[in-house]
Amino acid sequence: MANLKKSKILVLPGDGIGPEIVDEAVKVLECLRENGLSIEVEHGLIGGAAYDKTNSPFPAKTIAQAEECGAILLGAVGGPQYDQVERHLRPEQGLLDIRAHLNLFANLRPALLYAELASASSLKPELVAELDLLIVRELTGGIYFGQPRAQEVEDNVRRAYNTMVYDENEIRRIAHVAFLAAQKRDRRLCSVDKANVLEVSLLWREVMEEVHQEYADVELSHMYVDNAAMQLVRAPKQFDVMVTSNLFGDILSDAAAMLTGSIGMLPSASLNQDNKGMYEPIHGSATDIAGKGIANPLATILSVAMLLRYSLNQQQAAQNIEQAVIATLQQGVRTQDIADANTKAVSTGEMGNAVIKNLQKILLV
Ligand code: IPM
Ligand code: MG
Repeated sequence: MANLKKSKILVLPGDGIGPEIVDEAVKVLECLRENGLSIEVEHGLIGGAAYDKTNSPFPAKTIAQAEECGAILLGAVGGPQYDQVERHLRPEQGLLDIRAHLNLFANLRPALLYAELASASSLKPELVAELDLLIVRELTGGIYFGQPRAQEVEDNVRRAYNTMVYDENEIRRIAHVAFLAAQKRDRRLCSVDKANVLEVSLLWREVMEEVHQEYADVELSHMYVDNAAMQLVRAPKQFDVMVTSNLFGDILSDAAAMLTGSIGMLPSASLNQDNKGMYEPIHGSATDIAGKGIANPLATILSVAMLLRYSLNQQQAAQNIEQAVIATLQQGVRTQDIADANTKAVSTGEMGNAVIKNLQKILLV
C-alpha cells in the first residue's frame, strides 16, 4: 500500500461515548510519546460522525488515512438517530466496511477478570476468579458478509434472507491465528460451531481438525454454540481459547465480557495477515450515557495496549499501560459501571487521569 507509515496511529472516535473514551486513550498515547515513544497520532471520521459530515459512514478520506497508517484506534459507532438511515449508509456499515477493506479477519477478544473487580461480575466470585479466556472471532466472513442477502416482497409477502458462508481458506487462516494464540497460552482450543444443524459448521469442524495436525501441542475440542453459551455462564474457567465464526463470536464475546464485571473493561484487536490492526473496546456507543462524562475509558485504554503490542511491537509500553490500569483499580478508582455501593464513582476524565498518573510513575522507575 502507498505511503504506509507504521508509526502513524489513526484515531477514529466515532459516535456516542466514542469521543469521550478515545480522548482518554489519546492522553495515554501522548504521555508515552512525551516519554520517548516514536508515534504520530492523526484523527479521522467514521460511523455516524462521518455520515453527518460527508454522507458516508466510511468516507474516501478515511479510507486513504486507514491505508496509510500503521494501526487504528476506534471508539464506537452507531446511535438511534441513524435508525431510519438506509442500511448501506448506517454507522455500523462504516465499521463493517473498514474491517473488510483492511481485511481484518482475525478478531481477538480477551476476557480477563481483574481480581479487584470480582465482585462486579454477574457470576459468583469463585466461578470467575482468575478468569482469563480469549475469544478468536472470524471478522470478515460468515453471515455478516455472505451473498445473497436481501429483503424483498414476493406475492405481497415480505421476506428477507442472509447467507452464512465460509470457504476453507477463510476457516484455515482463522484456525492458524487461534492455534498460534493457544500455543502462547494454556494450549487448549475450543472451536464453537453448530455442526449438528449447519453445513457451514461441518466444513468449519473439518478444517479445524486438518489445521490441528500442524499444532500437535494444542488440545482441540469442539462445542455447539448453544452449549458454549451455557458453559460460559456456568463454568467459564474451563476455556482457554475459543475460536468461532463472525456471528457466534459477536454473541459469545458480549456474554464473556459481562463475566469480567463490565463490558466497559474489554479491549479487542482486529488484525490482518500482516498484523496491521484496528483496536477498539468491545462495547458499543452507549448513547444513553454519551456526553455525561461517566463512561469507563479502560477498555479503550487497554485497546491502546493491544495496539502497541500487536501492531507496533512495543511490548514494554503495552505492559506499562496494563500495569497502570491494574494499579488504578488497586487504588479503588472506579467509574460507575464497576463501582459498588460503597465506592464513589469517578468521571471518565478522572479515570483517565488516574491511569496516566500511574503510568508516569511506572515510566519513572
Ligand atoms: C461488535 C459490534 C459490531 C458487530 C456492530 C456494531 C456492527 O457488535 O464489534 O461486536 O456486530 O460486529
Ligand atoms: Mg458485538
